[in-house]
Amino acid sequence: MFYKLAQKFMFQMDAETAHNFAMTNLRLTGTTPFNCLYKQRIESKPFEVMGVTFPNPVGLAAGMDKDGEAIDAFAAMGFGHIEVGTVTPRPQPGNDKPRSFRLKPAKAIINRMGFNNKGVDNLVANIKASKREAVIGVNIGKNKDTPVENGKDDYLICMDKVYDVADYIAVNISSPNTPGLRSLQYGELLDELLQTLKNKQLELEAKHNKYVPLALKIAPDLSDEEIESIAECLLKNKIDGAIATNTTLDREAVKHLPEHTEAGGLSGKPLTSSSTVVIEKLHKALKGEIPIIGVGGIHSAQDAKDKIQAGASIVQLYTGFIYEGPELIANITKELN
Ligand SMILES: Cc1cc2nc3c(=O)[nH]c(=O)nc-3n(C[C@H](O)[C@H](O)[C@H](O)COP(=O)(O)O)c2cc1C
Repeated sequence: MFYKLAQKFMFQMDAETAHNFAMTNLRLTGTTPFNCLYKQRIESKPFEVMGVTFPNPVGLAAGMDKDGEAIDAFAAMGFGHIEVGTVTPRPQPGNDKPRSFRLKPAKAIINRMGFNNKGVDNLVANIKASKREAVIGVNIGKNKDTPVENGKDDYLICMDKVYDVADYIAVNISSPNTPGLRSLQYGELLDELLQTLKNKQLELEAKHNKYVPLALKIAPDLSDEEIESIAECLLKNKIDGAIATNTTLDREAVKHLPEHTEAGGLSGKPLTSSSTVVIEKLHKALKGEIPIIGVGGIHSAQDAKDKIQAGASIVQLYTGFIYEGPELIANITKELN
């Protein structure tokens, strides 16, 4: 009820202004009695994925809380895990505004934020300051001005800094909004990246005396051959998990809407089935040996169930959370228990 009112108010603003308004309020209220406006108790059995115990099967997808500013508020809402980031080694402003657009009739968003974030040191400080009542995933990327061929250095810097505060680390090579980034999903570049990150993970495991799993976040815009080749690479390098999927470049489902010409990644309802298909193919190619976190167009408990049936172990929300509200966390959890 409160969310429907808040949504009505925020949908009068442009998408990014509404996002910033919501984040400020969540940051300020997360640990105060005002969190009763959105706090909910989610009863669930735990879900064991990548060796991490998730208190329930629903997480917040990357990009909502890029700088980890409202972790306590999202945990109060009942998210079992919160994937903060994408964070880069150095702060960067992202692309020019406007860069986020609602496609209301399609329950969708197009965004080309471009990894706007305050840098990895700020994120680590925010995680340390939070109560950490949910599993914390840290999604890492590269700065826009780091050439793709040196991209892995940025991932290494971020891994080094977040390892001690993360419950898992998500490696984002699938944003469509950083030029060249998606080229890291293919062939030798991917193999080299994963090998380097795996070695770093083992080195950091010895140093910190704790194992933090690594998950690779992939795009939905991949051919069958590309999915198979990514799966082979994940298995070969013993990566702990996959997150499928990021936003899509495909506009077929929204070509009747004027905003479809905006550049960027499309998320929400038009992505539901294509991301489920990618999960299904990836799950098959991984022979069930590596768990998948399912994300993309989950707007109902049934959408989440479809992702689980396709092979996902747990799920994440972004656009569905904006259109449907925190109730969706409770509905999905009930369905998956
Ligand atoms: C405004 C916006 C910003 C996003 N930023 C990121 C990001 O920084 N890193 C990332 O891995 N995914 C990012 N995503 C992608 C989401 O995490 C998710 O993978 C995608 O939107 C599909 O899920 P959905 O249909 O539930 O939104 C972003 C999505 C949106 C809508």
